[in-house]
Amino acid sequence: MSEVLKSKAVNGWRLFWLVTAPISAAMLIAMMGKDLSSAESVSSMIQLSVRCAVPLLYVTFAASSVQTLFRGPLGGWLFRNRKYFGLCFAAAMGWQLFFILWLTTVHSDYYINEVYVLRDAIEGVVGYTFLIAMTVTSFAFTRRRMKPKTWRLLHLSGIYFLWAYAFSVYWWALFYYKNPLLLDYIYYWSGFLAWALRVAAWNKKRRKIAEKSVPRSTTQPVFNLAGMLIIGVGLVAASFGKAWYDTAANLMTGYAITRIPETYLPYWPFQPWLPLFIIALGALLTTRART
Ligand code: HEM
Repeated sequence: MSEVLKSKAVNGWRLFWLVTAPISAAMLIAMMGKDLSSAESVSSMIQLSVRCAVPLLYVTFAASSVQTLFRGPLGGWLFRNRKYFGLCFAAAMGWQLFFILWLTTVHSDYYINEVYVLRDAIEGVVGYTFLIAMTVTSFAFTRRRMKPKTWRLLHLSGIYFLWAYAFSVYWWALFYYKNPLLLDYIYYWSGFLAWALRVAAWNKKRRKIAEKSVPRSTTQPVFNLAGMLIIGVGLVAASFGKAWYDTAANLMTGYAITRIPETYLPYWPFQPWLPLFIIALGALLTTRART
């Protein structure tokens, strides 16, 4: 496998075209099979294009963590081609943007009456602003004109915002809307896994630093146990969102003070990520005493 992953055919720009060409062909074939004079058909092309994009987003999001956790040919290949997976995602989202512009211009009545929600539009525009900025700054010509810190901040906050967008869409599909598809479960849990790999890699790095710098503490087993229990609670909450969604919504919305965030703030009040915050807290505790 390591020889295959080192070959030119699956690295760099060849990898980009190996992924983007079939996706673009699938879009063109799907367009030929549809009556795109109907808004629903254009909307279904938005769905198809973004369903091709999301796995590439998750791979880009988790690539460096796979390398940290599982040193080897696969981790190395993912890490080496992070930029190209990101550009593959951007290319697939380029198709989504094409159909979004088609829907909002040619079928604007449908968009306004059936799709438009101010906060969703704000989320979407912020998402595309990040995506366009990350794409433009993925090239040496633009990157070297930025401070490394600014570049890193842009790409870190951008990839988290875009991952949060996709993850939340599938959280709502599973725990709020009716009749979720098998694909919704796969995309929800693979989005969760991509995030969990980042937490595990972060945890591994913290442990390594602690082992080098802090003497073993007697309270560590207690913090470990507490941390594991809290992670367990978070996992249960991430699996059964329906059970606590209403309570969380009632607790965190409907007040005068929350009116502005409810109308404008992307992702407010963050229900899909509440279990992840709990899991991150548990992970923090498992390295707490040592630091
Ligand atoms: C202003 C910008 C955006 C608009 C107007 C928009 C519009 C839409 C529409 C109309 C659908 C439903 C398609 C259907 O089911 O028929 C959809 C689905 C979706 N969009 Fe967007 N979108 C935007 C930005 C984004 C961004 C930035 C992301 C980030 C990853 C994204 C991710 C998704 C996902 C994951 C789905 C669900 C696809 C599925 O059903 O599996 N969208 N979008």
